[in-house]
Amino acid sequence: MNIAFAEPSIPGAGALIVGVLPERKLTPSAEDIDRLTGGAVGRALAADNKFTGKKDEFLALIAPPGTSLSRVVLVGLGKPEELRAVPLERLGGNLAAFLNQQGERGAALRLDPVVGMPVDAGAAAAAVAEGARLRAYRFDKYRTKEKPEAKPTLETLTVMTDAAAEAEAAFADRAKVADAVFFGRDLVSEPANILYPESFADLCKPLSDLGVDVDVLDEKKLRKLGMNALLAVGQGSTRDSRVVILDWRGDPKAADKAPLAFIGKGVTFDTGGISLKPASGMEDMKWDMGGGAAVAGLMKALAGRRAKVNAVGLIGLVENMPSGAAQRPGDIVTSMSGQTIEVINTDAEGRLVLADVLWYAQERYKPRLMIDLATLTGAVIVALGHESAGLFTPDDTLAERLIAAGKAVEEKVWRMPLDDAYDKELDSQAADMKNVASSRWAGSAIAAMFLKRFVKDVPWAHLDIAGTTWATKDLPVVPKGGTGFGIRLLDRLVADHYEAR
Ligand code: BES
Ligand code: MN
Ligand code: ZN
Repeated sequence: MNIAFAEPSIPGAGALIVGVLPERKLTPSAEDIDRLTGGAVGRALAADNKFTGKKDEFLALIAPPGTSLSRVVLVGLGKPEELRAVPLERLGGNLAAFLNQQGERGAALRLDPVVGMPVDAGAAAAAVAEGARLRAYRFDKYRTKEKPEAKPTLETLTVMTDAAAEAEAAFADRAKVADAVFFGRDLVSEPANILYPESFADLCKPLSDLGVDVDVLDEKKLRKLGMNALLAVGQGSTRDSRVVILDWRGDPKAADKAPLAFIGKGVTFDTGGISLKPASGMEDMKWDMGGGAAVAGLMKALAGRRAKVNAVGLIGLVENMPSGAAQRPGDIVTSMSGQTIEVINTDAEGRLVLADVLWYAQERYKPRLMIDLATLTGAVIVALGHESAGLFTPDDTLAERLIAAGKAVEEKVWRMPLDDAYDKELDSQAADMKNVASSRWAGSAIAAMFLKRFVKDVPWAHLDIAGTTWATKDLPVVPKGGTGFGIRLLDRLVADHYEAR
């Protein structure tokens, strides 16, 4: 679906969407079209006793008289003072879904400035447009037999505003971020026979066209670096492991060249290994690389909008398979840090991968900040469901910033505890640590404490995104499937706090 901006007019075809405020109060554009149709809007409002102008209500008038439009669609705006960026994005998303349901091909939304609205007209139009664009995403490349009438119809949404030029300017960066989100969603949605460490790395290579330095470490290099914990996870698979490094230097004038570092878990399939998972639901483990996809998408977003920041993304890519070559429960591996790990459960593999990539990120880049994203534990879904990602950080400032960025883009994070009491449970008789605790409680916090053993003196946050990487139902700006969670969140965090002006 394409987005366009234009000065307000009455189009000659397609759908025209106009806003209605609470208690059926018409916006100026709604009044315009009411007049033009000889009062059809007023009559429709009187005839329908559900639509009152609350946010995200829709009412469609088919073939309205006095026009050549296919439809006039009334959209409830809700209270003007609540029309901030997130509600506007949701409105755009819900509108795109509604228009597709109705089978519209072309549509124009007239977005009038409303008294009391906290954002300006251009920003409001850009927010609605982004919401519509994000919702219109679809991963359908493997659906060869879908009936044409089942496919989405909407080709173009034109947002009409007096501030069309400002809207276009404000939308330019948002469109780049949306493209990056689509890249992330594509990666999450690809099945594991298509997306494995090497092919994931190949899909990252085109980022170099945007000015990202793309480096792929193969097994030989990983072995030389001593990333034995990561390699042990991948050793049961016929697919070779990889680490992808995406380096974006958008602020070459920075006095302190230390980059931000973003680290992603990229387990392209997680069978559990010898500690095999049950069959039911195992197909979900194709998206156990959601953290890696978020990092790849984030780097595409930063480079796409030419963010004035130095940032490096590192993705640990492995496939966790059972086989004669797989690691066994009880194996002891020496991680790159030199710390030894007794692998009690081969299904607690993400932390083994991250242990080495976190260590490498610090050794090689001396970052000023480190954030990792991982579909790390089922336990975080028990705690938070699909509403928020789990946030673990010892740094109060970073926590505050991440929580605020999450609210601003509706990719929410909820802070959870790090505590030495959890750490103790990882002590091992045989090695420096075990990869799981003896009890099953507080699994997400224990996993976070495991990671913390590989973090030196650098501000660090861990996001457990197991509950937010995949949506099982449509959300306003996220169709069901891979969500791309983390990309808009961290792009916003960078924009708000770490970019040179
Ligand atoms: N990838 C899984 C976590 C997961 C579960 C993500 C469900 C998304 C949905 C992870 O590798 C895993 O298997 N974790 C185990 C840890 C346990 C063995 C300590 C878990 O959560 O059960
Ligand atoms: Mn696992
Ligand atoms: Zn996993």
